[in-house]
Amino acid sequence: MAATGGRRIGVLISGRGSNLQALIRAIQEGRLDATIAVVISNIESAPGLEHARTAGIETLAISHKGWPSRTDFDRRIAGELKARQVDLVCLAGFMRLIGAPLLEAFPNAIVNIHPSLLPSFPGVDAQKQAVEHGVRVTGVTVHLVNAGLDAGPIVLQRPVPVIDGDTAVTLSARILEEEHRAYPEAVRTLLEGGWRIDGRRFIPAGRQGAGNGEAQA
Ligand code: GRF
Repeated sequence: MAATGGRRIGVLISGRGSNLQALIRAIQEGRLDATIAVVISNIESAPGLEHARTAGIETLAISHKGWPSRTDFDRRIAGELKARQVDLVCLAGFMRLIGAPLLEAFPNAIVNIHPSLLPSFPGVDAQKQAVEHGVRVTGVTVHLVNAGLDAGPIVLQRPVPVIDGDTAVTLSARILEEEHRAYPEAVRTLLEGGWRIDGRRFIPAGRQGAGNGEAQA
C-alpha cells in the first residue's frame, strides 16, 4: 500500500529516482504529510518507476517522443496530473523543460531540485561545472518552476563545501545526500501553505516581504 495522507503530489522523473525515494521515505516516516498520487516518467526504463511501484504508487511512462508538438506532450502530462487532483508537482531528475500547458495548469505549484546554489551553474552537469569553475562552496537549490531554465523563485538552499581533490563524482555524491534532506523539507514548506511570492522572492509563512506581495498559498 502506498503511504497516504495530506495533500496530493505528482512526481516527474527521467531516471534513477533517488529524490523520489527520499520523498517516499519522508512520507513513510511521518516527516511529510502527503500522498504521492502518481509518478510519471518520460523514460520507460527509468529505475525510479520501480521504486514507486515497490511503494505501491501508481506509475505512468509517457514518452516525450512522437507528439505533433512539445505542447501536446506537456498537455498530456498536465491532464494526467489534474485527473489525479494533484496539488503540487515535484520534478525529481525530470530532464525536460516545462512548457506553457503545464505551467498554466499548475501556477507556482511546480517545484524542482537542482544540484548547485542557483543562479550559479544552471542546466546539466552542475556539479562538474562547479568543480571546473573552482568554487569552494556549491550546494542544493529547491525552486519553483517558471518558463526559464532553473530560474524560478528559490524556496530553500543548502551549501555543500567543495573539498580539495573533489571530482564531479565525489562532489555529486555529497550534494545528493543534502538533496535528500532538503527536498522533503521544501515540499513540506510548500504544502503547509501561507507563503507568497514577492517579485522573484519566496516569502515563507509568517515572514515579512518587501511589500507589494501577491498572495499565492
Ligand atoms: C539530482 O541531482 C537532481 O538535483 C537533478 O537531477 C538529479 C536526479 O537524481 N535535478 P535522482 O533521479 O533523484 O536520483
